[in-house]
Amino acid sequence: MTVILAVSNQKGGVAKTTSCLSLGACLAELGWRTLVVDFDPQGHLTLAAGYEPDEVEASVVDFLLAEASEADLRSLLLPTVMTNLDLLPADLRLATVEQSLTKREGYEYTLLHGLQSLTPLQWDVETLPREKYDAVLIDCPPSLGTLTILALTAAQWALIPVQCEYFASRGLLRLLDVIDAVRQHTNPSLDYWIFATLFDVRNAISRRVYEELQGHFKGHLLQTVIRLDTRLRESSMVGEPVILYAPRTRASQEYRDLARELVERLQQKESIE
Ligand SMILES: Nc1ncnc2c1ncn2[C@@H]1O[C@H](COP(=O)(O)OP(=O)(O)OP(=O)(O)O)[C@@H](O)[C@H]1O
Ligand SMILES: [Mg+2]
Repeated sequence: MTVILAVSNQKGGVAKTTSCLSLGACLAELGWRTLVVDFDPQGHLTLAAGYEPDEVEASVVDFLLAEASEADLRSLLLPTVMTNLDLLPADLRLATVEQSLTKREGYEYTLLHGLQSLTPLQWDVETLPREKYDAVLIDCPPSLGTLTILALTAAQWALIPVQCEYFASRGLLRLLDVIDAVRQHTNPSLDYWIFATLFDVRNAISRRVYEELQGHFKGHLLQTVIRLDTRLRESSMVGEPVILYAPRTRASQEYRDLARELVERLQQKESIE
């Protein structure tokens, strides 16, 4: 089964895009066939994966609008520098696609239906039976609009990066309300995980907010914490996942830990169900 995770938080700059690419790369390194989907009109994930959103020939927008065949959908995918990691890019039209989308009945399911029919780029038609992605990570925009609703409808999990600053819990509660609404309307089994990013160990507020998160969201809080590391900034600028750009740095280690923790949690869930 394909695990679909929507990396979402309406707050800007909390490392959604960075986490999407870094985690995607770590899952790919563990042998998971992984797709990262740029679902933000800013196109940052596309950039961070080494492509120009202005220059890609086709994108997730065509994926949303087209009544395309399976083969056409697959042609929208781009390879990345990592084996097992593909990208469904965004382009600037994503900002305006919402209006035409919402006129359609059942538009909330558009992304889900498209993703269900995708096969990995490295799928060898000759030798392998029909293959699916093991994981899909969707990079959501910093808003709770239509695109985020589509992503949460497609996902089994919302994966929520939180920067441990004042008001973080407040913003989180709004997002959890939206998750509840999505559960009621389009995706009853949606669940969520939270993890701390941009964590500054020297900052007392960071530590306090983290303790608050531990108190309020216990079963949902992942243990791995991603600390501040400028290598993450540099790696996005050169268009490479951090585990390739700086494989032995702390950020690479922490994202690898996060990927392993996710895999363990997913396996625990599977064995319970
Ligand atoms: N752990 C970290 N340490 C230092 N810098 C980081 C870390 N994580 C992310 N960054 C940097 O912080 C900035 C914001 O990260 P990112 O773009 O991933 O956030 P975002 O939530 O996707 O933002 P937006 O809401 O605009 O989509 C980027 O410059 C990124 O390189
Ligand atoms: Mg982003």
